Amino acid sequence: LSEETSSLLSAYDWLTKYYYHLLKYSEEGKIGLDYFTKRGIKEETIDQFQLGFAPTNSEFTMEFLKKKGFHQQLLVKAGLFAARSNDEYVDVFRGRVTFPIKNHLGRTVAFGGRAFQGEEPKYLNSPEHELFQKGNLLFNFNLAKNHIRKENEVIIFEGYMDVLAAYQAGIKNTVATLGTALSSNQAKLLKRYIDTVILCYDADNAGINASYQAANLLQQIGCEVRIAHVQENMDPDDYIKTFGSEQFKQQVISVSDTFFKFYMKYKKRDYNLSVDSERIAYIETIVQQLASIESTIEREYYVKEIADEFNLSTDIIHHDIEKYKKRNN
Ligand code: GTP
Ligand code: MN
Ligand code: MN
Ligand code: MN
Ligand code: MN
Repeated sequence: LSEETSSLLSAYDWLTKYYYHLLKYSEEGKIGLDYFTKRGIKEETIDQFQLGFAPTNSEFTMEFLKKKGFHQQLLVKAGLFAARSNDEYVDVFRGRVTFPIKNHLGRTVAFGGRAFQGEEPKYLNSPEHELFQKGNLLFNFNLAKNHIRKENEVIIFEGYMDVLAAYQAGIKNTVATLGTALSSNQAKLLKRYIDTVILCYDADNAGINASYQAANLLQQIGCEVRIAHVQENMDPDDYIKTFGSEQFKQQVISVSDTFFKFYMKYKKRDYNLSVDSERIAYIETIVQQLASIESTIEREYYVKEIADEFNLSTDIIHHDIEKYKKRNN
């Protein structure tokens, strides 16, 4: 590591401790602590993740870091401070609760900051820098990786709060993307550890669309993908807090959809199945997808299902599968 790089890591380390300390012990940080408490975050979780609070007055933070020997220039480069006017720099996360984003070795390389009094935007992330590329990192991968290996499964969530809720409910093989779509580097990283990836995104349109994109990507690199659904208008954090981890495991994770099942449901939204022409187009679309399933058993299973649902003969479906397979080769 260059001197500047290790200095940057050190600044992130100090700031992690500083925000954490303020959350737990300072008068000003109490509102942040209350916020986490109200959201059901336990003290052990705060400690484990080193959640924090950034003071409203940026000068405190700047003073602290200057005393530790860091120059303003480095702090700006690291994305911790931003210029507000010519010579005024502000703590990017001021007045927010903070989530350290750690690399795979457990070193903080960025923060997520959440506003909790209605300010916009709701979440802020550190800008990318030398040691932080959103597409190469997964939130909580550092703590999750041993559990991922052990369970031979990983659950991907959308948000930090989903990971925290699962973690404190005893489900530890989980990660979250950092407010962006799953990238191919993130997918490949997970693939190195295990075959089965469960997507558990928010039950809203954005979440369903993001599941579809991520599922396609994972499937293309050879992962076995499953797509889990929480009930409408919830996200996994809400679900776990309302129904508990057992119900989450049994009624969300265990019954998650295969990629193809999800594909059938997803594509249904694009067609009006009470119109013959659209119904036919829908069937053609899914049979085409069916042709790309490698497992003969899985394929046969869905051939039957489609035949039943649309009152077709399985022979016809097989015939079309062969046609599409030839076309794909
Ligand atoms: P809570 O509202 O705290 O429960 O968060 P959430 O995780 O449920 O939020 P949401 O589902 O809206 O977003 C999922 C993830 O996307 C968050 O954890 C953030 O990483 C990211 N995100 C959400 N809103 C914003 C935003 O306004 N700006 C940025 N940069 N990221 C966001
Ligand atoms: Mn949002
Ligand atoms: Mn969401
Ligand atoms: Mn959410
Ligand atoms: Mn949420």
